[in-house]
Amino acid sequence: MKIRENIAISTLTTMRLGGNARYVIDIESEEDVPAAYAFADEHELPFYVLGSGSNIIGRDKGFNGVILVNKIRGMGIESEEDNGRIELYSYSGELLDDFVRYSTRLGFSGIEALSAIPGTVGAAPVQNVGAYGQDISQTIVSVRAYDQLFEDFVEIPKIDMDLSYRHSIFNSGKDVGRYFITKVVVCLKRAELKPPFYNSLQKYIDDNGITEYSPETIRQAVRAVREGKLPDPAEIASSGSFFKNVYLDSEKDIQVATAKGIPVWDGGKIPSGWLVENAGLKGQSFHGMRVWDKAALVLVNENAHSYADLAAARGEIVDIVYEKFGYKLEQEPMELGEE
Ligand code: EPU
Repeated sequence: MKIRENIAISTLTTMRLGGNARYVIDIESEEDVPAAYAFADEHELPFYVLGSGSNIIGRDKGFNGVILVNKIRGMGIESEEDNGRIELYSYSGELLDDFVRYSTRLGFSGIEALSAIPGTVGAAPVQNVGAYGQDISQTIVSVRAYDQLFEDFVEIPKIDMDLSYRHSIFNSGKDVGRYFITKVVVCLKRAELKPPFYNSLQKYIDDNGITEYSPETIRQAVRAVREGKLPDPAEIASSGSFFKNVYLDSEKDIQVATAKGIPVWDGGKIPSGWLVENAGLKGQSFHGMRVWDKAALVLVNENAHSYADLAAARGEIVDIVYEKFGYKLEQEPMELGEE
């Protein structure tokens, strides 16, 4: 267990903003988890669990607490069944993309559309990561986690995670911060996905004359589509989608939106990227933050100096979209640090 002091949150997160954290502890094994909580307890400091920092934005005042950086590695086969199904596990500090690659190389389907999503395996259930028609709720079986309330390791089955669009017990409600997820188990099958695929993926498949849909082929197609649209966090500071999509739940709201010429997809989804683009904001800069030219839902940090710059940019974008279309966009990434 390595303990570091006074570390800038900007160096731990892909948006590259935020003041100092008092302590940062690298968690390299399950045993490190209770030890790190004990350290926070002894120092009477709050704690926060971080993976690769690709969906967390640091605030300017920093965090007078302990950040636990998840680096628990390892993956493999949990159990094999006769009917073409398999359970794979990954420890939570692995990169999700590495776990996806492992699964597709074995020829199993179920998480291939999650290829090239930045972030760790442990973060996947927290916000129910999803892309191109798949999300982790479709395949996750359970997680192993350290329950800091009862100071013991527990297994949490999917049914208890309350997974829905970008939502789980780990990011909403009374149990936020209670669990440190150490291991994730998914159930996959030896099968091919069937078309039609999510629209941008289908277009790529058609344009490239792809006719076999093995997990590895779909993985490569998803990687190509993402590379063409989304900034690589290693090169350009961002947190992926900055706003959530809007979901309408009443028929009346759907009719109102449709009458205004706003696209409403299955399940009542209004693509917020459409709202931002059609408010004329694509490629525009606000306080050093820029609406990404190729995907209007993504905000990149070009030369913002602080979280305050980001907050000002967010406020202006939200207001412009609200004035034009009447929907209040909500931020997708979480935040860390004192307000
Ligand atoms: N659109 C525009 N202009 C844009 C971008 C999008 O008009 O600049 C409209 C288009 O109609 C497009 C639709 O929005 O067809 C959907 O866009 P896209 O397929 O790019 O996906 P998204 O809804 O913007 C979501 C996830 C992404 C995920 C993609 C692909 C959220 C917040 N974002 O974005 O996840 O990769 O679908 O499945 O749900 C992330 O969460 O960080 C993330 C990148």
